[in-house]
Amino acid sequence: MQVVIQPNAGAAADLVAWIVAGQVRTQPRSVLGLATGSTMEGVYARLVELNREEALDFSRCRTFNLDEYVGLPENHPNSYRHYMNHHLFGKVNIELRNTHLPNGMAEDLAAECENYERLIKQVGGIDLQLLGIGRSGHIGFNEPLSAFNSRTRVESLVPATIEQNRPLFKRDTRMPHQAITMGVGTILECRRCILLATGPDKAKIVAQAVEGPLTSMVSASSLQMHPHCTVVLDVAAAGQLKGMKHYQRLFENDPKWKAFRERMSVGDTAPLRTSVC
Ligand code: F6R
Repeated sequence: MQVVIQPNAGAAADLVAWIVAGQVRTQPRSVLGLATGSTMEGVYARLVELNREEALDFSRCRTFNLDEYVGLPENHPNSYRHYMNHHLFGKVNIELRNTHLPNGMAEDLAAECENYERLIKQVGGIDLQLLGIGRSGHIGFNEPLSAFNSRTRVESLVPATIEQNRPLFKRDTRMPHQAITMGVGTILECRRCILLATGPDKAKIVAQAVEGPLTSMVSASSLQMHPHCTVVLDVAAAGQLKGMKHYQRLFENDPKWKAFRERMSVGDTAPLRTSVC
């Protein structure tokens, strides 16, 4: 696991978008794993800009989202399909038929979960998976006590998650308390994982996930076992890490981040070069 700390949330989102852009440029037929949530909005906004201004081409990409609420139709403003169409798919040149989210309205939810796993396998697995982290330590909606080898399934949301996401629902809308989520095992099989967390509210859980023991009580701690995982943080989210200075030094001296460092030092107008990291 590598921890990369950026001065603010904008720079952290920029770095994640830079990694995704590098992946798509070097491998135009990439299979991308996507996440929703407020943290990812900055990443998608940057990817839309790169598509418009620097011809970042999504036309041959396929995508699989981590999760979807059970019981919300696709066109519901709080569905994750709606979020993805609004923030990314409707604004870049991706083929909608190549974008996948679990169907939370399926009559047979167990069959839907099995089918989702099958589809991911059929395309050869996920090349790069974006992840946020919830206050409960979840990745996707893998709440505490999710087994590290769990697969796509229906998960019940814990009170911390309901509290975190409830404000996004209108007062008269019942927030679902269940979701379909890729399992921790499904996520660990992705070839590369990028976890993005920003803001002081995430500092405690980030420290537990990155420097704490491996435990199913914090699903994100499983990423310590992943062979190619990058955790991108802003200074606020990194605030409780014991090794903060060490991680910063590593980033500053690591040649694989040189192109990004140079680009940031000349400002946002510099073209994104193909990422090698
Ligand atoms: C959503 C997802 C969740 C979120 C996490 C953080 O698809 O996978 O794990 O990434 O709850 O959400 P925000 O960014 O809203 O704090």
